[in-house]
Amino acid sequence: MPNRSHSNAGHIAMNALRKRSGLHTSEREIQSAAPGTTLHAIRVGDCLDLLREIPSDSVQLIVCDPPYNINLAAWDNFRDYIQWAALWLKEAERVLAPSGSLVIFGGLQYQGEAGTGDLLEILMHLRRHSPMLLVNLIIWHYANGMSAHRFFANRHEEIAWFAKTRKYFFDLDAVRIPFDEETKRAYMKDKRLRPESIEKGKNPTNVWDVGRLQGNSLERVGHPTQKPTEIIRRLVRALSYPGSVVLDFFAGSGVTTRVAIEECRHSVSGDVLQDFPEYLQKQISMAQSSAGLLLPSFKVLGEGEGLSHPVFRVQPRQDQPRRRGRPPKALQPRREGHGRAPGL
Ligand SMILES: C[S@@+](CC[C@H](N)C(=O)[O-])C[C@H]1O[C@@H](n2cnc3c(N)ncnc32)[C@H](O)[C@@H]1O
Repeated sequence: MPNRSHSNAGHIAMNALRKRSGLHTSEREIQSAAPGTTLHAIRVGDCLDLLREIPSDSVQLIVCDPPYNINLAAWDNFRDYIQWAALWLKEAERVLAPSGSLVIFGGLQYQGEAGTGDLLEILMHLRRHSPMLLVNLIIWHYANGMSAHRFFANRHEEIAWFAKTRKYFFDLDAVRIPFDEETKRAYMKDKRLRPESIEKGKNPTNVWDVGRLQGNSLERVGHPTQKPTEIIRRLVRALSYPGSVVLDFFAGSGVTTRVAIEECRHSVSGDVLQDFPEYLQKQISMAQSSAGLLLPSFKVLGEGEGLSHPVFRVQPRQDQPRRRGRPPKALQPRREGHGRAPGL
């Protein structure tokens, strides 16, 4: 990605706006508020069946960690990878709200050892066939990984962040990293810097240092490619807002649902694995035991209950014309009664 900090007109204008404590249009149009109870629809089945149930323009964030045809498991084997991926990429774009984002996990280290898919293919496909914007290519760097003898051992994966429109929602303050005390003291003496900006902390940048889950990690629920909650939480906090909907149609271990519950977002998640509900139950038990009574109120909706989910209450766009950039009415904050926090 080019360095946008010096010559980009949008970046310069945004800096000036921040100095005046102004808000970007995307921030003015979204007023988030945590609902009393968040709702979490789950499905066991094919991602395309789930996507086809979801109305257009209804989802704020899609966390997408697809299979890449590298024979990791039975679900990771496709004859024509990009032809298949094109189907769910198109659906993902359709269901995203104008303020929404799609984040796609993957690697660029494909060496032809198995199938035909990798993140490069997806990036090239979207470049040719989609108007979505590639906002960042995030490098997820980790110190722990496999050893190698014929190449440099791999220590990173990528997360491609696409926004549906230029009015994408981004809450940088929610994911800033606090300065250490020594740096903070030094910066506070610098008269050119604003104390409130120093208090907020620093931009995490597009290189994230977060360890991969070890085999014996306490977070593990049994899925072979489970992602760390810390990564998912940063994405959820920055790219969605309380009361909005997060979707994960390759949900695997259910980590996205867990984070959505903890962060007061609604969610929809699905996976072909029959074990998915069991993994999700473990995730929920872990969330309950680590937060106790502080865990926000939530309700998990099974197959028959999907219609009471906020996503499924949104009217299709042709029935409900509205200005581009506004979140759909059903996703705007509203108060709900406190519900139970059941298991599955
Ligand atoms: C890389 S894993 C996702 C892991 C997940 N992000 C986590 O952190 O636990 C990909 C998942 O996609 C699921 N999958 C593969 N093909 C699918 C399909 N056609 N529809 C729905 N899920 C599918 C697999 O069962 C697998 O759990």
